[in-house]
Amino acid sequence: MSNEGYTRLDRHAHTAADDLRQFTLDVLHGLSEKPKRLPSRWIYDEHGSRLFNDICELQEYYPTRCEAEILHAHARDIVAAAGAPLDVIDLGAGDGRKSSILLEAASGARYVPIDISESAMQELVAAMRQRHPGIEVSGIIGEYFDALNWLSTRSGRRSLVLFLGSNIGNFSKVQARVFLRQLWEALNPGDLVLIGWDLKKDIDLLIDAYNDAKGVTAKFNTNLLARINRELGGEFNLEQFRHYATYDVYSGAIESYIVSMVRQTVAVKGLRTSFDFDEWEPIHTEYSYKYLQADIDALAAATGFAGVAQYHDSRRWFTDSLWKVVKD
Ligand code: TRP
Repeated sequence: MSNEGYTRLDRHAHTAADDLRQFTLDVLHGLSEKPKRLPSRWIYDEHGSRLFNDICELQEYYPTRCEAEILHAHARDIVAAAGAPLDVIDLGAGDGRKSSILLEAASGARYVPIDISESAMQELVAAMRQRHPGIEVSGIIGEYFDALNWLSTRSGRRSLVLFLGSNIGNFSKVQARVFLRQLWEALNPGDLVLIGWDLKKDIDLLIDAYNDAKGVTAKFNTNLLARINRELGGEFNLEQFRHYATYDVYSGAIESYIVSMVRQTVAVKGLRTSFDFDEWEPIHTEYSYKYLQADIDALAAATGFAGVAQYHDSRRWFTDSLWKVVKD
């Protein structure tokens, strides 16, 4: 590892130019489809990431606070269950604040964030080194499973993989199962995973969490269009679109949309094309699946993990499961 604090698995590292090319393709593809859709990963540029941090502070958005409460209460147990020497491997670290709660209790551990984006990695490594001077920070730039496979064949250390913040909820049920199986495949027997799940609960609470009174979530979601304007020469008038989030009782998911309130044609100069919208036509942006404990247990069993512990916040709105990899 270099003193930059991270290793590049070059075959899969993304440069800013790769990102722009992929963003272009996703916009072209997603806005040409019926129904229209845009992947939520593109919300998270500098503006979107700042807005997401604001969402985490909102009274209505409970998941971040619930999970922080869980981690504060159980960090010692979690780290003790993993044993030493320990790699705390972080998938989807964001600004790393939640992982920091665990690292406070993990002296002697090595912190290994995995991210596809070099710029995000540079910021995270700098922030985590400053917060935890006693912890070795050694990131990997690459796709999750390439990085995990690479690590598990060479480190000889115990892994504790973090997939926090209900990130798993943004996968469909089938994608979640495939993701967990790939995770199991890439780890060694005895390694642990800590996964955050948002639980099914009163529907008004769910809906409010994605429709805050201050309109921060609306700004966050429609940042997708603002970003197309900034980076691809789009001409979206944000006043003619609105955020809409609803809960589907059958699938158990919050569904987020951007809806065109008028019939209009919007040019995107960088793509040398334009897109037609009907009045009230939606663009789907994200699913956030909510879980029952029985669904979580069934997923562990189906993908090769054994439950070690199940942690809850005081209101039991959110849960983190600690699972162990079993391979016979
Ligand atoms: N993916 C996160 C979640 O499901 C973040 C999020 C909150 C979000 N509000 C949103 C994503 C609105 C898209 C639209 O909780």
